[in-house]
Amino acid sequence: MARYKIVAGTASLKFANDVATILNKKVEDVKIGTFSDGEIDVNIINSVRGDDIFIIQSTCSPTNDNLMELLILVDAFKRSSAGEITVVLPYFGYARQDRKAAPRVPITAKLVADMIEKSGVDRVVTIDLHAAQIQGFFNIPVDHLLGSMVFVNYIKNLNLKNPIIASPDVGGVARARTYAKALNYDLVIVDKNRDKKNKSEVMNIIGDIKNKDIIMVDDIVDTAGTLTNAALALKKDGANSVLACCTHGVLSGPALDRLENSSLDRLAITDTIPLSKPHDKIVVLSATNIIAQTIDKIYNKESINTMFDNI
Ligand code: R5P
Repeated sequence: MARYKIVAGTASLKFANDVATILNKKVEDVKIGTFSDGEIDVNIINSVRGDDIFIIQSTCSPTNDNLMELLILVDAFKRSSAGEITVVLPYFGYARQDRKAAPRVPITAKLVADMIEKSGVDRVVTIDLHAAQIQGFFNIPVDHLLGSMVFVNYIKNLNLKNPIIASPDVGGVARARTYAKALNYDLVIVDKNRDKKNKSEVMNIIGDIKNKDIIMVDDIVDTAGTLTNAALALKKDGANSVLACCTHGVLSGPALDRLENSSLDRLAITDTIPLSKPHDKIVVLSATNIIAQTIDKIYNKESINTMFDNI
């Protein structure tokens, strides 16, 4: 009888263990190491012949090592005669390079999708891709979950007095609208002009935010420039409080210092990327439940559609 097994990549050890616990399972015994020159070595301890495999690995920093490890894991399972191989990418690195934003630049998100597919994967599960269209970079099924599945209840339970959803830039309006609809809140937009890589500049706020409790939503918080600049502008314009909900806490470079010194009251992220150290302003919510539910449904060949009700 076919079984399914949960495999943890080194970037998502805790996440995968938590998912396995929810599913009453243990993560599969796989040795992942490096040779003396840094090349990655993988050894699956027990037979997996015919078993369906769910490999959980976020391609977060160190992105290239984690990506390469994922590809090698897939290859090892394929060559061990596993059944269907599903890659669960709680965070899909390189997603922001999803189009030719300037002349003579790569579309690295497509390149990475090709590499993952070519390694022998049958299906991909992921959360809040930077642009939903990245699903089309794969020619295999992609189950694209939403960060709002984690955040909507959290926001509801805050019982904010004067809540309003904000998009920190024009590109995030579709995502922000999903939250506004699910929560039945109004929506405002911070019109941001980004002139250099990893630098952001707030231009103006579209909508009335006087005395409002702002919930800013985004897919990624990286250097935190976008959020902290937007929070400053929102507070200057009379917002009462500013909370940000960002699915993937990349939090690189100056992010933690910026948060510390910012007008942002709180940042809620999920555990798709492990948080390096606790921070007073950061709350971590778990996305393991939605991944566990999805794995269970995929294995049992059930629709995941009901998971999108009310979000
Ligand atoms: C941009 O389009 C993304 O949705 C995020 O707003 C951006 O990646 C955040 O980057 P940072 O935190 O470095 O401003």
